[in-house]
Amino acid sequence: MSLTTNDAMIEIRPSAHAASPEERAKRMTNPGFGRIFTDHMVVVHYRDGQGWDRGVLRAYAPIELDPAASVLHYGQAIFEGFKAYKQPDGAIACFRPEANARRFNTSAARLAMPELPEATFLSAAKALITQDQAWVPGAVGESLYMRPLMIAMEPALGVRPSNEYLFILLASPSGAYFPAGVKPVTVWISDDYVRAAPGGTGFAKCAGNYAASLVAQRQAQGEGCDQVVWLDAIHRTYIEEMGGMNIFFVYQEKGETVVVTPELTGTLLPGITRDSLLQLAREQGFRAEERKITVDEWRSAIQEGRMTEAFACGTAAVITPVGHVKSRKGDWTIHNGETGPVAASLRETLLNLQHGLSKDSHGWMKKIV
Ligand code: PLP
Ligand code: COI
Repeated sequence: MSLTTNDAMIEIRPSAHAASPEERAKRMTNPGFGRIFTDHMVVVHYRDGQGWDRGVLRAYAPIELDPAASVLHYGQAIFEGFKAYKQPDGAIACFRPEANARRFNTSAARLAMPELPEATFLSAAKALITQDQAWVPGAVGESLYMRPLMIAMEPALGVRPSNEYLFILLASPSGAYFPAGVKPVTVWISDDYVRAAPGGTGFAKCAGNYAASLVAQRQAQGEGCDQVVWLDAIHRTYIEEMGGMNIFFVYQEKGETVVVTPELTGTLLPGITRDSLLQLAREQGFRAEERKITVDEWRSAIQEGRMTEAFACGTAAVITPVGHVKSRKGDWTIHNGETGPVAASLRETLLNLQHGLSKDSHGWMKKIV
Protein backbone atom coordinates (compact mmCIF):
# COMPACT_ATOMS: atom_id res chain seq x y z
CA MET A 1 0.00 0.00 0.00
CA SER A 2 1.21 3.50 -0.70
CA LEU A 3 1.10 6.46 1.57
CA THR A 4 -1.25 9.38 1.00
CA THR A 5 1.03 12.39 0.78
CA ASN A 6 1.18 15.76 -0.89
CA ASP A 7 4.53 16.47 -2.54
CA ALA A 8 3.71 20.18 -2.77
CA MET A 9 3.80 20.41 1.04
CA ILE A 10 7.60 20.12 1.11
CA GLU A 11 10.02 22.27 -0.84
CA ILE A 12 13.13 20.30 -1.83
CA ARG A 13 16.49 22.09 -1.44
CA PRO A 14 19.14 19.39 -1.85
CA SER A 15 22.39 19.70 0.08
CA ALA A 16 25.44 20.99 -1.80
CA HIS A 17 27.72 18.78 0.31
CA ALA A 18 26.06 15.36 0.52
CA ALA A 19 28.36 12.49 1.49
CA SER A 20 30.11 10.66 -1.37
CA PRO A 21 29.10 7.00 -1.90
CA GLU A 22 32.42 5.93 -0.31
CA GLU A 23 31.95 8.18 2.73
CA ARG A 24 28.35 6.99 3.12
CA ALA A 25 29.36 3.32 2.91
CA LYS A 26 32.03 3.92 5.55
CA ARG A 27 29.61 5.61 7.92
CA MET A 28 26.96 2.93 7.40
CA THR A 29 29.27 0.11 8.49
CA ASN A 30 28.13 -1.09 11.93
CA PRO A 31 25.79 1.87 12.36
CA GLY A 32 24.57 0.92 15.86
CA PHE A 33 21.51 2.92 16.88
CA GLY A 34 21.00 6.65 16.38
CA ARG A 35 24.64 7.61 15.92
CA ILE A 36 24.79 8.60 12.24
CA PHE A 37 22.45 10.80 10.27
CA THR A 38 21.62 11.17 6.60
CA ASP A 39 22.43 14.16 4.36
CA HIS A 40 19.10 15.93 4.82
CA MET A 41 16.36 16.86 7.25
CA VAL A 42 12.91 18.42 6.94
CA VAL A 43 11.94 21.50 8.93
CA VAL A 44 8.51 23.10 9.26
CA HIS A 45 7.83 26.29 11.25
CA TYR A 46 4.65 27.19 13.09
CA ARG A 47 3.47 30.55 14.38
CA ASP A 48 0.22 31.30 16.20
CA GLY A 49 -2.15 33.04 13.82
CA GLN A 50 -0.27 31.84 10.73
CA GLY A 51 -0.25 28.10 11.29
CA TRP A 52 2.29 25.75 9.73
CA ASP A 53 4.54 27.07 6.92
CA ARG A 54 5.41 25.00 3.91
CA GLY A 55 8.05 22.42 4.91
CA VAL A 56 11.59 22.55 3.61
CA LEU A 57 13.91 19.61 2.99
CA ARG A 58 17.47 20.86 3.32
CA ALA A 59 20.98 19.85 4.35
CA TYR A 60 21.22 18.22 7.77
CA ALA A 61 22.79 20.88 9.97
CA PRO A 62 22.65 22.40 13.47
CA ILE A 63 19.66 24.65 14.10
CA GLU A 64 19.72 28.12 15.56
CA LEU A 65 17.93 28.54 18.86
CA ASP A 66 17.44 31.68 20.95
CA PRO A 67 18.78 31.03 24.48
CA ALA A 68 15.37 32.15 25.75
CA ALA A 69 13.53 29.61 23.53
CA SER A 70 10.96 28.13 25.86
CA VAL A 71 11.87 24.51 25.04
CA LEU A 72 15.17 25.09 26.84
CA HIS A 73 13.41 26.25 29.98
CA TYR A 74 10.06 24.56 30.29
CA GLY A 75 10.52 21.52 28.07
CA GLN A 76 7.75 21.67 25.50
CA ALA A 77 9.28 18.93 23.36
CA ILE A 78 7.80 15.79 21.82
CA PHE A 79 9.12 13.16 19.45
CA GLU A 80 8.26 9.98 17.57
CA GLY A 81 10.13 7.01 16.14
CA PHE A 82 9.33 4.76 13.17
CA LYS A 83 11.32 2.86 10.59
CA ALA A 84 11.75 2.57 6.82
CA TYR A 85 12.78 -0.85 5.51
CA LYS A 86 14.32 -1.98 2.23
CA GLN A 87 11.96 -4.45 0.51
CA PRO A 88 13.10 -7.46 -1.56
CA ASP A 89 12.11 -5.69 -4.83
CA GLY A 90 14.24 -2.65 -3.97
CA ALA A 91 11.29 -0.54 -2.81
CA ILE A 92 11.34 1.20 0.57
CA ALA A 93 8.38 0.93 2.93
CA CYS A 94 7.53 2.28 6.39
CA PHE A 95 5.82 0.31 9.12
CA ARG A 96 2.53 1.93 10.24
CA PRO A 97 3.71 5.56 9.92
CA GLU A 98 0.14 6.91 10.15
CA ALA A 99 -0.05 5.50 13.69
CA ASN A 100 3.04 7.54 14.60
CA ALA A 101 1.55 10.66 13.00
CA ARG A 102 -1.57 10.19 15.15
CA ARG A 103 0.36 9.55 18.34
CA PHE A 104 2.52 12.62 17.64
CA ASN A 105 -0.62 14.72 17.79
CA THR A 106 -1.82 13.03 20.97
CA SER A 107 1.52 14.01 22.50
CA ALA A 108 1.24 17.55 21.07
CA ALA A 109 -2.20 18.02 22.61
CA ARG A 110 -0.97 16.90 26.07
CA LEU A 111 1.92 19.38 25.93
CA ALA A 112 -0.35 22.25 24.75
CA MET A 113 1.44 22.27 21.39
CA PRO A 114 -0.25 22.67 18.00
CA GLU A 115 -1.21 19.55 16.10
CA LEU A 116 0.70 18.93 12.89
CA PRO A 117 -1.51 17.83 9.97
CA GLU A 118 -0.92 14.09 9.45
CA ALA A 119 -0.42 14.81 5.74
CA THR A 120 2.51 17.11 6.60
CA PHE A 121 4.09 14.48 8.86
CA LEU A 122 3.75 11.82 6.15
CA SER A 123 4.78 14.10 3.28
CA ALA A 124 7.92 15.04 5.23
CA ALA A 125 8.69 11.34 5.66
CA LYS A 126 8.20 10.67 1.97
CA ALA A 127 10.40 13.62 0.96
CA LEU A 128 13.26 12.68 3.30
CA ILE A 129 13.22 8.93 2.58
CA THR A 130 13.05 9.60 -1.16
CA GLN A 131 15.91 12.09 -1.06
CA ASP A 132 18.11 9.95 1.21
CA GLN A 133 17.11 6.50 -0.06
CA ALA A 134 20.74 5.48 -0.51
CA TRP A 135 21.01 5.63 3.30
CA VAL A 136 18.43 2.86 3.88
CA PRO A 137 20.36 -0.26 4.92
CA GLY A 138 19.27 -3.60 3.47
CA ALA A 139 20.06 -6.37 5.97
CA VAL A 140 17.34 -7.94 8.14
CA GLY A 141 17.39 -6.11 11.48
CA GLU A 142 18.62 -2.90 9.86
CA SER A 143 16.48 0.06 8.82
CA LEU A 144 16.33 3.80 8.46
CA TYR A 145 15.08 5.04 11.84
CA MET A 146 12.95 8.16 11.38
CA ARG A 147 12.90 10.67 14.22
CA PRO A 148 10.23 13.43 14.06
CA LEU A 149 10.26 16.00 16.83
CA MET A 150 8.62 19.29 17.75
CA ILE A 151 10.03 21.98 20.05
CA ALA A 152 8.84 25.34 21.40
CA MET A 153 10.82 28.21 19.86
CA GLU A 154 9.40 31.43 21.31
CA PRO A 155 11.98 33.46 23.23
CA ALA A 156 9.89 34.12 26.34
CA LEU A 157 10.34 33.23 29.99
CA GLY A 158 6.70 33.36 31.05
CA VAL A 159 5.35 29.91 31.88
CA ARG A 160 2.73 29.43 29.15
CA PRO A 161 2.50 27.65 25.82
CA SER A 162 4.92 29.03 23.23
CA ASN A 163 3.46 30.82 20.23
CA GLU A 164 6.16 29.46 17.90
CA TYR A 165 7.24 25.89 17.17
CA LEU A 166 9.62 23.96 14.96
CA PHE A 167 8.94 20.49 13.56
CA ILE A 168 12.03 18.60 12.45
CA LEU A 169 12.33 15.19 10.81
CA LEU A 170 15.70 13.51 10.74
CA ALA A 171 16.76 10.02 9.71
CA SER A 172 19.35 7.65 11.09
CA PRO A 173 20.51 4.38 9.48
CA SER A 174 20.33 1.89 12.33
CA GLY A 175 21.14 -1.67 13.30
CA ALA A 176 20.55 -3.29 16.69
CA TYR A 177 19.32 -0.96 19.46
CA PHE A 178 21.08 -2.87 22.22
CA PRO A 179 24.81 -3.33 21.64
CA ALA A 180 24.53 -7.07 22.43
CA GLY A 181 21.83 -7.63 19.75
CA VAL A 182 18.87 -9.79 20.83
CA LYS A 183 20.51 -11.22 23.95
CA PRO A 184 18.02 -11.37 26.86
CA VAL A 185 18.31 -8.43 29.24
CA THR A 186 18.46 -8.32 33.03
CA VAL A 187 15.98 -5.86 34.55
CA TRP A 188 15.75 -3.95 37.83
CA ILE A 189 12.29 -3.32 39.25
CA SER A 190 12.33 0.31 40.35
CA ASP A 191 10.90 1.07 43.80
CA ASP A 192 12.52 4.46 44.14
CA TYR A 193 11.35 6.12 40.93
CA VAL A 194 8.19 6.16 38.83
CA ARG A 195 7.94 6.98 35.13
CA ALA A 196 4.37 8.25 35.03
CA ALA A 197 1.48 9.05 37.31
CA PRO A 198 -2.27 9.30 36.61
CA GLY A 199 -3.00 12.67 35.07
CA GLY A 200 0.63 13.04 33.99
CA THR A 201 2.34 12.56 30.64
CA GLY A 202 2.92 8.78 30.55
CA PHE A 203 0.83 8.27 27.42
CA ALA A 204 2.68 11.04 25.57
CA LYS A 205 6.08 10.78 23.96
CA CYS A 206 7.50 13.93 25.51
CA ALA A 207 11.18 14.56 26.13
CA GLY A 208 10.75 15.11 29.87
CA ASN A 209 9.60 11.52 30.41
CA TYR A 210 12.96 10.31 29.17
CA ALA A 211 14.97 12.88 31.12
CA ALA A 212 13.22 11.74 34.30
CA SER A 213 13.96 8.08 33.52
CA LEU A 214 17.73 8.44 33.31
CA VAL A 215 18.50 8.37 37.03
CA ALA A 216 16.42 5.19 37.41
CA GLN A 217 18.21 3.64 34.46
CA ARG A 218 21.52 4.54 36.09
CA GLN A 219 20.38 2.96 39.35
CA ALA A 220 19.41 -0.21 37.46
CA GLN A 221 22.87 -0.33 35.93
CA GLY A 222 24.36 0.14 39.39
CA GLU A 223 22.43 -2.98 40.42
CA GLY A 224 24.04 -4.90 37.55
CA CYS A 225 20.98 -4.64 35.29
CA ASP A 226 20.50 -3.50 31.70
CA GLN A 227 17.09 -1.88 32.02
CA VAL A 228 14.57 -0.60 34.53
CA VAL A 229 11.04 -1.96 34.99
CA TRP A 230 8.48 0.69 35.94
CA LEU A 231 5.66 0.14 38.43
CA ASP A 232 2.47 2.15 38.74
CA ALA A 233 2.84 5.33 40.79
CA ILE A 234 -0.06 4.77 43.21
CA HIS A 235 0.24 1.17 44.40
CA ARG A 236 3.83 0.54 43.32
CA THR A 237 2.59 -2.94 42.50
CA TYR A 238 1.43 -3.14 38.90
CA ILE A 239 4.01 -3.56 36.15
CA GLU A 240 3.82 -0.85 33.49
CA GLU A 241 6.77 -0.82 31.10
CA MET A 242 10.44 -1.71 30.68
CA GLY A 243 12.64 1.33 30.05
CA GLY A 244 11.37 2.82 26.80
CA MET A 245 9.47 -0.30 25.76
CA ASN A 246 6.19 -2.08 26.48
CA ILE A 247 6.32 -5.50 28.13
CA PHE A 248 4.68 -8.88 27.51
CA PHE A 249 4.40 -12.04 29.62
CA VAL A 250 3.82 -15.55 28.26
CA TYR A 251 1.79 -18.07 30.24
CA GLN A 252 1.02 -21.72 29.64
CA GLU A 253 -2.51 -22.40 30.87
CA LYS A 254 -4.16 -25.79 30.36
CA GLY A 255 -2.19 -26.44 27.19
CA GLU A 256 -2.89 -22.96 25.84
CA THR A 257 -0.31 -20.23 25.27
CA VAL A 258 -1.50 -16.90 26.64
CA VAL A 259 0.34 -13.62 26.05
CA VAL A 260 -0.44 -10.86 28.53
CA THR A 261 0.52 -7.19 28.40
CA PRO A 262 -0.34 -4.47 30.92
CA GLU A 263 -3.52 -2.64 29.96
CA LEU A 264 -3.32 0.98 28.82
CA THR A 265 -4.25 2.99 31.87
CA GLY A 266 -3.12 6.41 30.68
CA THR A 267 0.29 6.08 32.31
CA LEU A 268 1.67 3.72 29.66
CA LEU A 269 2.87 4.68 26.21
CA PRO A 270 0.48 3.00 23.74
CA GLY A 271 3.15 1.26 21.67
CA ILE A 272 2.56 0.53 18.01
CA THR A 273 4.70 -2.60 18.30
CA ARG A 274 2.58 -3.63 21.32
CA ASP A 275 -0.61 -3.20 19.31
CA SER A 276 0.85 -5.09 16.35
CA LEU A 277 2.04 -7.99 18.53
CA LEU A 278 -1.38 -8.36 20.16
CA GLN A 279 -2.81 -8.89 16.67
CA LEU A 280 0.00 -11.18 15.46
CA ALA A 281 -0.15 -13.28 18.64
CA ARG A 282 -3.87 -13.92 18.11
CA GLU A 283 -3.20 -14.87 14.49
CA GLN A 284 -0.59 -17.38 15.68
CA GLY A 285 -3.29 -19.07 17.77
CA PHE A 286 -2.31 -17.60 21.13
CA ARG A 287 -4.78 -15.99 23.48
CA ALA A 288 -3.82 -12.35 24.01
CA GLU A 289 -4.92 -10.34 27.04
CA GLU A 290 -4.51 -6.75 28.21
CA ARG A 291 -4.81 -6.62 31.98
CA LYS A 292 -3.06 -5.57 35.15
CA ILE A 293 -0.24 -7.76 36.40
CA THR A 294 1.58 -7.38 39.73
CA VAL A 295 5.20 -8.02 40.63
CA ASP A 296 4.03 -10.78 43.03
CA GLU A 297 2.16 -12.47 40.18
CA TRP A 298 5.27 -12.22 37.97
CA ARG A 299 7.42 -13.92 40.60
CA SER A 300 4.92 -16.60 41.63
CA ALA A 301 3.94 -17.45 38.04
CA ILE A 302 7.62 -18.02 37.25
CA GLN A 303 8.15 -20.09 40.42
CA GLU A 304 5.09 -22.21 39.66
CA GLY A 305 6.11 -22.69 36.04
CA ARG A 306 2.91 -21.03 34.74
CA MET A 307 4.85 -18.21 33.12
CA THR A 308 7.47 -19.30 30.63
CA GLU A 309 8.68 -16.06 29.03
CA ALA A 310 8.74 -12.29 29.30
CA PHE A 311 9.84 -9.83 26.65
CA ALA A 312 9.81 -6.12 25.90
CA CYS A 313 8.85 -4.54 22.59
CA GLY A 314 9.27 -1.25 20.78
CA THR A 315 10.19 0.20 17.42
CA ALA A 316 13.89 0.56 18.12
CA ALA A 317 14.67 -2.94 19.43
CA VAL A 318 11.54 -4.79 18.10
CA ILE A 319 11.50 -7.61 20.72
CA THR A 320 13.97 -8.02 23.56
CA PRO A 321 13.59 -11.04 25.87
CA VAL A 322 13.87 -10.56 29.63
CA GLY A 323 16.20 -13.21 31.08
CA HIS A 324 16.65 -12.15 34.69
CA VAL A 325 14.71 -9.96 37.10
CA LYS A 326 16.22 -8.28 40.16
CA SER A 327 14.41 -6.35 42.86
CA ARG A 328 14.61 -5.49 46.55
CA LYS A 329 12.14 -8.33 47.13
CA GLY A 330 14.16 -11.00 45.35
CA ASP A 331 15.53 -12.13 42.02
CA TRP A 332 14.29 -14.65 39.49
CA THR A 333 15.28 -16.11 36.15
CA ILE A 334 13.04 -16.61 33.13
CA HIS A 335 13.44 -19.41 30.59
CA ASN A 336 16.96 -20.14 31.88
CA GLY A 337 17.94 -16.61 30.90
CA GLU A 338 17.51 -17.51 27.23
CA THR A 339 15.21 -16.36 24.42
CA GLY A 340 11.95 -18.33 24.52
CA PRO A 341 10.07 -19.72 21.52
CA VAL A 342 7.14 -17.27 21.64
CA ALA A 343 9.43 -14.19 21.72
CA ALA A 344 11.55 -15.69 18.93
CA SER A 345 8.54 -16.55 16.78
CA LEU A 346 6.81 -13.18 17.20
CA ARG A 347 10.08 -11.37 16.53
CA GLU A 348 10.64 -13.32 13.33
CA THR A 349 7.04 -12.82 12.20
CA LEU A 350 7.22 -9.08 12.72
CA LEU A 351 10.67 -8.66 11.15
CA ASN A 352 9.68 -10.75 8.10
CA LEU A 353 6.63 -8.58 7.64
CA GLN A 354 8.63 -5.36 7.99
CA HIS A 355 11.30 -6.50 5.55
CA GLY A 356 8.68 -7.62 3.03
CA LEU A 357 9.60 -11.30 3.40
CA SER A 358 6.04 -12.32 4.25
CA LYS A 359 2.61 -11.21 3.14
CA ASP A 360 1.35 -8.00 4.74
CA SER A 361 -2.27 -8.99 5.30
CA HIS A 362 -2.87 -5.98 7.59
CA GLY A 363 -1.83 -3.24 5.18
CA TRP A 364 0.74 -2.07 7.75
CA MET A 365 3.58 -1.50 5.27
CA LYS A 366 3.38 1.78 3.40
CA LYS A 367 5.46 1.96 0.26
CA ILE A 368 7.39 5.23 -0.01
CA VAL A 369 9.51 4.77 -3.12
N1 PLP B 1 7.14 2.74 25.80
C1 PLP B 1 7.90 3.85 25.75
C2 PLP B 1 8.08 4.64 27.00
C3 PLP B 1 8.50 4.22 24.54
O1 PLP B 1 9.27 5.31 24.49
C4 PLP B 1 8.29 3.44 23.40
C5 PLP B 1 8.90 3.83 22.13
O2 PLP B 1 8.38 4.44 21.27
C6 PLP B 1 7.49 2.30 23.49
C7 PLP B 1 6.93 1.99 24.71
C8 PLP B 1 7.21 1.45 22.31
O3 PLP B 1 6.40 2.10 21.40
P1 PLP B 1 6.43 1.75 19.86
O4 PLP B 1 6.19 0.29 19.76
O5 PLP B 1 5.36 2.55 19.26
O6 PLP B 1 7.80 2.10 19.39
C1 COI C 1 11.49 2.48 21.11
O1 COI C 1 11.47 2.56 19.89
O2 COI C 1 11.18 1.44 21.71
C2 COI C 1 11.95 3.61 21.90
O3 COI C 1 11.65 3.71 23.03
C3 COI C 1 12.79 4.59 21.24
C4 COI C 1 13.78 5.19 22.18
C5 COI C 1 15.05 5.45 21.43
C6 COI C 1 13.20 6.41 22.81
